[in-house]
Amino acid sequence: MSPFFPKDAATGSKCNIGSRVLLSILAVVVVVGSSGMVAVVESGIGVNWGTVTLHRLSPHTVVNLLKDNKIGKVKLFDADPDSLKALMGSGIEVMVGIPNDMLSLLSSSPTASDSWVSQNVSRYMVKNGVNIKYVAVGNEPFLTSYSGQYQSYVVPALTNLQQSLAKANLAGIIKLVVPCNADAYESSLPSQGAFRPELNQIMTQLVSFLNSNGSPFIVNIYPFLSLYGSSDFPQDYAFFDGTTHSVIDGPNVYNNAFDGNFDTLVAALSKIGYGQMPIIIGEVGWPTDGVISANLSAARAFNQGLINHVLSNKGTPLRPGVPPMDIYLFSLLDEGAKSTLPGNFERHWGIFSFDGQAKYKLNLGNGLLKNAKDVEYLPFRWCVADPSKDLSTVANHFKLACSYADCTTLNYGGSCNDIGAKGNISYAFNSYYQLLKQNVQSCDFDGLGVVTFLDPSVGDCRFLVGITDGKSSGICLDGRLVIVLLLIFWVSYIYLV
Ligand SMILES: *[C@@H]1O[C@H](CO)[C@@H](O)[C@H](O)[C@H]1NC(C)=O
Ligand SMILES: *[C@@H]1O[C@H](CO)[C@@H](O)[C@H](O)[C@H]1NC(C)=O
Ligand SMILES: *[C@@H]1O[C@H](CO)[C@@H](O)[C@H](O)[C@H]1NC(C)=O
Repeated sequence: MSPFFPKDAATGSKCNIGSRVLLSILAVVVVVGSSGMVAVVESGIGVNWGTVTLHRLSPHTVVNLLKDNKIGKVKLFDADPDSLKALMGSGIEVMVGIPNDMLSLLSSSPTASDSWVSQNVSRYMVKNGVNIKYVAVGNEPFLTSYSGQYQSYVVPALTNLQQSLAKANLAGIIKLVVPCNADAYESSLPSQGAFRPELNQIMTQLVSFLNSNGSPFIVNIYPFLSLYGSSDFPQDYAFFDGTTHSVIDGPNVYNNAFDGNFDTLVAALSKIGYGQMPIIIGEVGWPTDGVISANLSAARAFNQGLINHVLSNKGTPLRPGVPPMDIYLFSLLDEGAKSTLPGNFERHWGIFSFDGQAKYKLNLGNGLLKNAKDVEYLPFRWCVADPSKDLSTVANHFKLACSYADCTTLNYGGSCNDIGAKGNISYAFNSYYQLLKQNVQSCDFDGLGVVTFLDPSVGDCRFLVGITDGKSSGICLDGRLVIVLLLIFWVSYIYLV
């Protein structure tokens, strides 16, 4: 996108040569170390990094957050140049994504496929570039609610992209994958798992393609959605602490929805002749706000239970001792601009809040979550409803503010649900004010709003402070910035003397 990319990239590579050298050495050690071993399965814990956000943390801050938490794998939903530039030289394994709406073009045009690969993959596959391991072709393209609109493009797009990768000499390094939703298969008992009849043929083609390229099958599994969507889903079956509702399937006993779902997929794959296909969990997680069952303690219990389960290498009844190859938690950060169509929880999936602060204690296998460092906040001030004003005419302002900003925590089950009518209005005003980067007019609301320096947060209900666009990285002093700073010093010097 940016014509200045190569230069920027070069500047970027000067910034932390030290850590890069270290990473290269580490990489060598890992490669040498692992070459002598026999396929010891050790699952990796990665994260999804989505960017449908109202307050975007600088990509450098996010990459440092990943590094500080030793998160070695990240999955993106597109090929955003800013994110990829920030990942250069980090050594972090990356899955880049192709959105569903590009599948039609990529399925019909080898030229478009070539240029997607060259613009979004090849340019990063340089020394100190991005460690791209996978390209996700579409995202849940078989979702029932898409009514089959992307279905026929998937395999032709894969075929074109595979050729483009081969032309770029990347076919041996980068694998094409297709993250599938769990509603692609069904069954009441895991051992009876099968793909949806109308998907059977396409799944057979897809899996045979993946198999011939040595690619894994990727699936997204959400026990939270099962619980949220069905009032008779046994709550303890969604978690990993034992259940009074075990599923008995012949000789096999299932004590959690995750294993049951996973084995349903294993059975479905067996049925079409690929029972040994490696599986990666592309998305799995638990939201923390917006509805009753989405809260901090449930999210912590689910995610920690899941991580401990996967890292124990226990596997499942149909794959004992073989856990998923990798799992990618959904999600790294809250994304306040997501559609609430799935439910009011949708903007609250992050293990970190939008500003990179850990929401709860979670151990990914190497210590508790660490907060993002050097987050550049706007000034610590808030916009609230003026207590001296009559607020009877505020309804339209409230609606408008919440149609732009995120107010989903105000809903029943949300962290701000019991702050009262006035609290509600203040919350909406503040969310809007922060969204507009504390622009003075954005706290007017026909004279009903007022700026305060006292944090109006109550209990678990947090009134946020926005963050800056974070264009300056904080690590590398840009040449232009240095010149501006020198100018400022020079001017103040003249005035002071
Ligand atoms: C590369 O990816 C970006 C972001 O996903 C997309 O907007 C762009 O169209 C892609 N480039 C090509 C040539 O398809
Ligand atoms: C949190 O969610 C769990 C599981 O969904 C639920 O049982 C519990 O009541 C919720 N806790 C609160 C405080 O709402
Ligand atoms: C605050 O707003 C939420 C969401 O619009 C609503 O459910 C709740 O009843 C409101 N509370 C009061 C006291 O008006």
